[in-house]
Amino acid sequence: MDIKAVLYGVGAIGALIGRVAIKRGVKLVGAVDIDPAKVGKDLGIVIGLEEKLGIKISKDPGTTLSKCKPDIVLHATGSFLDRVYPQLIGAMESGTDVISTCETLAYPYYRYPKLSKLLDTHAKIHDVTLLGCGINPGFILDLLPAIMSTPLIEFTFLKATRCLDVLKRRRTFQRKIGLGLTPRVWRRKYSEGEITGHVGYAESVFLIASMMGLKVKNVEERQEPIIAERDIKSKDVLIREGEVAGIRGIGEGICNDGRKIIVELIALAGGDDFEEIILEGEPSIKWRSSGTPGDLATAAILVNMIPNVLNAEAGLLTINDVGIPSWKELTSN
Ligand SMILES: NC(=O)c1ccc[n+]([C@@H]2O[C@H](COP(=O)([O-])OP(=O)(O)OC[C@H]3O[C@@H](n4cnc5c(N)ncnc54)[C@H](OP(=O)(O)O)[C@@H]3O)[C@@H](O)[C@H]2O)c1
Repeated sequence: MDIKAVLYGVGAIGALIGRVAIKRGVKLVGAVDIDPAKVGKDLGIVIGLEEKLGIKISKDPGTTLSKCKPDIVLHATGSFLDRVYPQLIGAMESGTDVISTCETLAYPYYRYPKLSKLLDTHAKIHDVTLLGCGINPGFILDLLPAIMSTPLIEFTFLKATRCLDVLKRRRTFQRKIGLGLTPRVWRRKYSEGEITGHVGYAESVFLIASMMGLKVKNVEERQEPIIAERDIKSKDVLIREGEVAGIRGIGEGICNDGRKIIVELIALAGGDDFEEIILEGEPSIKWRSSGTPGDLATAAILVNMIPNVLNAEAGLLTINDVGIPSWKELTSN
């Protein structure tokens, strides 16, 4: 049987999720977005396919979900749980499981303890599962480093770093880290919340700690702009010397017993693409990759998590609660 999905949010990431879903044999049956430029348009055209899908993007999630009766809602509209909360509540009311890219939903109990309780209760009332995940938070700076600790006898320290070339990322990501701003404008926009940088350092720290059975006593998050030391040009972007070429951010968690968990993100125009995980203990381990394309990987992770979520118990869950993630065969062939 086909898995039927509704896209909720057809921006850069929603469009990628749509294309990956189709490629993997998931049947798209509806789509919701509030952007007037997309509402009423054919989904196939909006997500960049060469042909129409015969599905019009709607601004009305209630009607779309009750008419389309999907198995899963793939949600990608925003980063902050308080803002997307009504969307998630509405989607769950239709009796459908939801997977969302909302970063603060990946470990919602830290920033939004009250909303977490409400979402969990609501999910259980409607017998559905709600999961927040993506490349980060949700996989590369949390699930992966926690899994990498499996061969250790003793553990004292973890540092997970992700470095990426921001010129290879979608425009919305470049905008949210303030690429090309002057440092003064960056600081103003960042302090006013107009740009956020990466969201989810603390969520990653808490996810790691919860997987490893550790209690976080204190977590600190910091982000700084990285200033271009020379002009950086790409096909679409010009960053002049002295402007913001990226960000470096850190989440530093201290556990009750003194163990330390650090996650770091460096997003830099022309930067190297790699992930590195350092685990200290007995034995100590260092692992390094050649990078993971974040936007596509987020879409893949959402689609690969569909079977885990469809088979999970009802409630608000984290990626730690829904069975071992992996690439999954989604068709019956
Ligand atoms: N966890 C992860 O690893 C991960 C990875 C990648 C992205 N993300 C997050 O995923 C989210 C989507 O990213 P994106 O780059 O695709 O953003 P985007 O391009 O801004 O797309 C979001 C889309 O959702 C629409 N939208 C906003 N509020 C809505 C609502 N109430 N109902 C229906 N549609 C709504 C937006 O319309 P308007 O433009 O009109 O507002 C826009 O079309 C972001 O918050 C991003 O940070 C997370």
